[in-house]
Amino acid sequence: MLSVSNLRAEVEGKEILKGLSLEVPAGEVHAIMGPNGAGKSTLSYVLTGREGYEVTGGAATLDGEDLLSLAPYERAAKGVFLSFQYPLEIPGVPALTFIRTALNAQRKARGEAEITAPEFLKLARAKAADLKIDFDMLKRAPQRRLFRR
Ligand SMILES: Nc1ncnc2c1ncn2[C@@H]1O[C@H](COP(=O)(O)OP(=O)(O)OP(=O)(O)O)[C@@H](O)[C@H]1O
Ligand SMILES: [Mg+2]
Repeated sequence: MLSVSNLRAEVEGKEILKGLSLEVPAGEVHAIMGPNGAGKSTLSYVLTGREGYEVTGGAATLDGEDLLSLAPYERAAKGVFLSFQYPLEIPGVPALTFIRTALNAQRKARGEAEITAPEFLKLARAKAADLKIDFDMLKRAPQRRLFRR
């Protein structure tokens, strides 16, 4: 359960969140809707711990644990993170390497052993098939045009 109560936050000295409360029980999908500038992105940034966003009042907890006192990577390990709308290319880093590193960081945070390379490939192949993603594409490292002749 994600629980936000009377949350107040500001960015560059301007108060954006003015006492927001909401509860999201585990396993439920909620959509937050509102006019442009209402503060939806600000709420996401504050909950995930983006720099420059200052909490000035209220609380946010995940399963009863204070979320706001954790570092962004600790929040992410508990499942609170922003996903990419437009993923950035990191030249030289294939998607599979990126995903395996992220998965192992999660497993480590949960006190589990790292997944082995063959286990990971099997899992990735199965998930790629489920999502109808070309598996070969995941193996490819993106290259910046700059490096091409
Ligand atoms: N870095 C900043 N400095 C000052 N004001 C900011 C900053 N970032 C956002 N704001 C202001 O905070 C308010 C909320 O913006 P926010 O981006 O959270 O809204 P939103 O609900 O996500 O809007 P949209 O639907 O356009 O994505 C707006 O008035 C915006 O101008
Ligand atoms: Mg927004």
